[in-house]
Amino acid sequence: MQEWSKNKKKESKTICFVPTMGYLHQGHISLMEKGAPLCDELVLSIFVNPTQFGPNEDLDSYPSNIENDLSLAKKAGATAVFLPNKENIYPENYQTEIRLKYLPDHLCGKFRPVHFTGVATVVTKLFNIVMPDMAVFGQKDYQQLQIIRQLTLDLDFDIKIIAGDIIREKDGLAMSSRNAYLSKSQRASALSLWQSLNLAKELIAKGEKDSGKIKHKMETFFKTFSQTTPEYICFCDPQTLDHVDSIENQVLLALAVKIGKTRLIDNALIDPS
Ligand code: PAJ
Repeated sequence: MQEWSKNKKKESKTICFVPTMGYLHQGHISLMEKGAPLCDELVLSIFVNPTQFGPNEDLDSYPSNIENDLSLAKKAGATAVFLPNKENIYPENYQTEIRLKYLPDHLCGKFRPVHFTGVATVVTKLFNIVMPDMAVFGQKDYQQLQIIRQLTLDLDFDIKIIAGDIIREKDGLAMSSRNAYLSKSQRASALSLWQSLNLAKELIAKGEKDSGKIKHKMETFFKTFSQTTPEYICFCDPQTLDHVDSIENQVLLALAVKIGKTRLIDNALIDPS
């Protein structure tokens, strides 16, 4: 992969990069479509990174369909697909980790202690392998996007980080490879994430500034859905991810919800009226 990128650079070609864990859906495709016109080459990577999964998470059951992914990638404009295996990325005696000091203390990081070190480490390695000029990440994983922006700055990567909008199903559910785990009734309950974000938006539009009160109303709302338990509902500063009590400026509302055993996340940037 690195040889390929070096050769493209020798030909003065620019490279855009979209890292994924595969089982591609329209969310991933939108990132490729956003990146394709910006550079000469578009590299997609598919690697289910073991170091970002905790011991009781879904590494072994993570969905995969490489044939379909390859055909979707081609249609979306990818000129190369990087498909490393575990040994390529983490050979025997692999030792180095990239760990951020503060951003992982919030939101998902509180509940997935090893997750962002795994993400930061693999993305750093992928950046060094693919050597892109730009890389596109989805706002669906807002904390991940902030962490990538920070590590790009901290480690002096000469890579422009581009954010892609959250792509949703027609009824509002944010697309995710993990939606494949949901039964029919769980799929109906999963709509609660999007609906609860809208509930919060309405309350903020009516002038409510107290994030605690809104959170309480959202929690009550989630109780009306079967098999649905919020893990966290947080109002935070979009840059630092620090908790916000009174909503005076644009706020990030981020949530993680368990539907049965499936953990789903969603978020919205909301401006007070
Ligand atoms: P994965 O979950 O496969 O997501 C790959 C990229 O697609 C991420 O940037 C994610 O934010 C984006 N994405 C997922 N669902 C989306 C949606 N509904 N709308 C818009 N973008 C969406 O995120 C990872 O993989 C991994 O952590 C990775 C960065 C590849 C490191 O292993």
